Amino acid sequence: MTPLRSMVCVGILGAHHIPVSGIMADEPSIRLMVDTDLDQVFSLIDQENWGWEFHEIRRIFALDTRNSIVAEINGEIVGLITLINFGKTAFIVHVIVKEGWRKKRLGARMMRDALQNLDSLDVDNVELHAMPDVAEFYTQFGFKRVEEISFFCKHPGTSGQQNTVDATSDAEFRLLDLEETLSMSECQSRMMGFHESDFQYAMKTDPPEYPVARLVGSSVTAMLIARKGSELNPLGPWFMNHPDKKTARAMLRSAIARLPDRRTDVGISTSNELAKDIFLDEGFSLMTEGVVRVSRSARAVSPFPRELLAIGHLGVI
Ligand SMILES: CC(C)(COP(=O)(O)OP(=O)(O)OC[C@H]1O[C@@H](n2cnc3c(N)ncnc32)[C@H](O)[C@@H]1OP(=O)(O)O)[C@@H](O)C(=O)NCCC(=O)NCCS
Repeated sequence: MTPLRSMVCVGILGAHHIPVSGIMADEPSIRLMVDTDLDQVFSLIDQENWGWEFHEIRRIFALDTRNSIVAEINGEIVGLITLINFGKTAFIVHVIVKEGWRKKRLGARMMRDALQNLDSLDVDNVELHAMPDVAEFYTQFGFKRVEEISFFCKHPGTSGQQNTVDATSDAEFRLLDLEETLSMSECQSRMMGFHESDFQYAMKTDPPEYPVARLVGSSVTAMLIARKGSELNPLGPWFMNHPDKKTARAMLRSAIARLPDRRTDVGISTSNELAKDIFLDEGFSLMTEGVVRVSRSARAVSPFPRELLAIGHLGVI
């Protein structure tokens, strides 16, 4: 297969701009995203009103500067795919074609180019969280539905149920340093079904500010990663070996108490009733439901287990 980079070279050499039988003249060319694209990239993402902030787009790009792509015509970006290749697992974050350019097969061209590139690397699983009305779009590229995801958020000043007794636990939750967090990649990998090396890469490249864990003796029985955003704090992944409501609520409070007083966002597997109860009890409200987790993988990808109480903001982290 032709890696994207060689196709990009062809693009740079101008082949995409050469009219072929009079039909290619006004077709956007597809190339790798570069740092100087980020303003235009953000503005295209912002038009979808999904609530992304510029610094998050910069963070996604910093995690992987080599695989996101844009479609460009006359200096204008009219399509994009942002993705993070963690090594073995790749997560597609955005797929957008600018209004006016839709239904001209540009989205499909970009997807094929991006996937062809990933296929030429060491990636064995590509995942994304699709909006419900677009999930079907991805089946043509080999993606299969895995499960549904719901997103919850908690606004500053919103308190949970007054029943504090229910959320008090004797368990202690400790803030971890980076080395300790890295050593827990194996637990994360087991819970989320991705490779351990994916977590090692993510944690080293973009260390979380607030990784909280519960340790019993030398073993980890729970871990929650919390991050600080400029407008919102993303929570997750979060797992507990044997989740129970009381300990989970206490752990969530312990993590949130460390965060700046901003909106907190979290994604959970929709079928995880326990996680839903915990977040509702703690003052979170449902923001988006029916988001479809799809995967394109040679191996079987399973729904997240019940022990995983929250997934990460960017699929893996
Ligand atoms: C989804 C999106 C990227 C598709 O891009 P596009 O360039 O319009 O799509 P294409 O023209 O390449 O479509 C290729 C094929 O997919 C189908 N398709 C396009 N959008 C679809 C959708 N929402 N659901 C199911 N199939 C879809 C097309 O009908 C076409 O099928 P065909 O080959 O049988 O004709 C584009 O509509 C978009 O940017 N939407 C807004 C942002 C968004 O929702 N992104 C996805 C978030 S998960």
